[in-house]
Amino acid sequence: MLVVLERGKNEVAEQAARIIAGSIRRNPAIRLGLATGGTMIGVYHELARLHREEHLDFSRVVTFNLDEYLGIPPSHPQSFRSFMQHHLFAHVNIPRNSIHIPDGTLTRDYDAYCEKYERAIRDAGGIDLQLLGIGRNGHIGFNEPMSSLGSRTRTKELSAETIEDNRKSFAPGEEVPQCAVTVGIGTSLETRRILLLATGQSKADAIAKSIEGPVSASVTASALQLHRDVTFLLDEEAASLLTQKPYYRHVLDMTRKLMPERLS
Ligand code: PGA
Repeated sequence: MLVVLERGKNEVAEQAARIIAGSIRRNPAIRLGLATGGTMIGVYHELARLHREEHLDFSRVVTFNLDEYLGIPPSHPQSFRSFMQHHLFAHVNIPRNSIHIPDGTLTRDYDAYCEKYERAIRDAGGIDLQLLGIGRNGHIGFNEPMSSLGSRTRTKELSAETIEDNRKSFAPGEEVPQCAVTVGIGTSLETRRILLLATGQSKADAIAKSIEGPVSASVTASALQLHRDVTFLLDEEAASLLTQKPYYRHVLDMTRKLMPERLS
């Protein structure tokens, strides 16, 4: 695992965008796994700037989003489809039919739908680069604590902590979704490369447990220890509870010298 320690959230977003842009330039038909959440806004903003000012071309890029709330229409301002449209898709040239986001309007045949989403990822050739955030409880996607580490795309009941975190984005008094469709931990472990971003003190405990704790369904991001190519991009606050920072800095210095393409 490569642990990249940055100063603040702007540096984390810029570093993530640099890696994504470099990956697109090396493989213009890349299959990207995309995430939503406040941590991603700066990344998408920077990718939009690179498209506008430096001609970063998304015309052959294919995307699969991690998750979507269940029970709200795509046009709802808090749907993840709206988030992606607002922060990324409206500003870059990804063809509409190359964009995949789980359908939050399902009311039946959930298993068949989720199997279809898995199949679409497989048929596209699998995900080359997966972007992940992390919840305060260590979730990735909406894989809440005690999700199976072998899980695939499915519906998931959200934890009380996640519902509280999500409430901040909804209007006062508005009903907050209790369930979501999310790709599974097993799905994410099959991606070729993972970038996990975390900023702020509220993520410090989850980050320390994910990187230095035991692999456990209690902190589903800890399953990333089983993945062969994960890069964690962290700001000082999110990294504050890690105990091996001097070693991570040494690894990073060596990576910059020996394999600079991993950071660009
Ligand atoms: P955040 O969400 O970026 O809004 O903190 C991350 C997540 O819950 O995965």
